[in-house]
Amino acid sequence: MEKDQLRYENMKYSRCGKSGLLLPKISLGLWHNFAGVDVYENSKEMVLRAFDLGITHFDLANNYGPPPGSAEETFGKILREELSAYRDQMIITSKAGYLMWPGPYGEWGSRKYLISSCDQSLKRMGLDYVDIFYSHRPDPDTPLEETMMALDQIVRSGKSLYAGISNYDPEQSQQAFDILKSLGTPCVVHQPSYSMFNRWVEDGLLNVLEKNGVGSVVFSPLFQGLLTDKYLKGIPEGSRAAKSHGFLQSSQITEEKIHKIKALNLIAEKRGQKMAQLALCWVLRDPRVTSVIIGASKVSQIEDAVGILDNLEFSEGELTSIEAILKA
Ligand SMILES: NC(=O)c1ccc[n+]([C@@H]2O[C@H](COP(=O)([O-])OP(=O)(O)OC[C@H]3O[C@@H](n4cnc5c(N)ncnc54)[C@H](OP(=O)(O)O)[C@@H]3O)[C@@H](O)[C@H]2O)c1
Repeated sequence: MEKDQLRYENMKYSRCGKSGLLLPKISLGLWHNFAGVDVYENSKEMVLRAFDLGITHFDLANNYGPPPGSAEETFGKILREELSAYRDQMIITSKAGYLMWPGPYGEWGSRKYLISSCDQSLKRMGLDYVDIFYSHRPDPDTPLEETMMALDQIVRSGKSLYAGISNYDPEQSQQAFDILKSLGTPCVVHQPSYSMFNRWVEDGLLNVLEKNGVGSVVFSPLFQGLLTDKYLKGIPEGSRAAKSHGFLQSSQITEEKIHKIKALNLIAEKRGQKMAQLALCWVLRDPRVTSVIIGASKVSQIEDAVGILDNLEFSEGELTSIEAILKA
């Protein structure tokens, strides 16, 4: 079979909430390892391999770097040089919310910031539109109506096809959904963090999403790489925790967590999986989770992630054992 058909053979796609948008179970995020400080050839190889494995969804934001903006530039270059014929087969996202440029208009949730930031992201990526544009975080000092009206405007002006929010708590999310609905641009997706070590979404957010027919694409499902076998014998060179610009702090790698990972790893082995694969399957066990956004520093990690697709199910016994380890 042709490569162009093969890429869709093994990936599973799920409906994002009640929208018309289908997303792959595994998405690729470009927060780390796709920036100006990284090796372009490696970044390119990862994007191309991901796409060939059916990962149609690439998650970016204005500030991904370092320097901020450079992940979008890298992705733009890859698109231009390798994937320009495939734009309609890809879901490309961006976000605005965190600090991007100096002065009062370079972060948070004003209309001024969101709309100019979206224009900048499109320029960096060389795109006419993104597929999803997110408010990256709630802004306590800007009326929610203003931030949502900016998202509505971005969609209406054709700069994004869908609107999303990220890092909003359950109450803020409900308010955002109500406003967006009244504007005629329903929110299709929420992007929260979720992993075995970070379960806040279970405390109300997933219920709010289900009630509103909004999908979820969850980030840092491996707790930035901790939920793998990588840190079981210390902090290896080249890992995210070892990098000065990596967001995983060595202080987050506690003995208690390592103890749990060792126990979880035994369950993974019994399932014929790697620890990272178990952690991804566990996040996807909840049907309200549309997709997991993984990060990667090498192609083999993307292949590991896609390798879970024929072994997603858990027995009751496995889930009980995992729960006992996580709650111990
Ligand atoms: N909306 C938001 O506020 C927000 C915040 C954070 C992230 N995100 C999105 O979510 C994406 C994913 O976040 P994340 O990078 O923290 O996700 P993650 O999947 O929890 O962590 C990714 C890291 O785990 C390690 N890893 C991955 N697969 C592995 C494997 N099979 N074996 C061993 N190690 C493995 C790699 O670390 P090494 O580099 O050490 O190899 C990789 O860089 C981001 O790129 C971004 O798009 C969104």
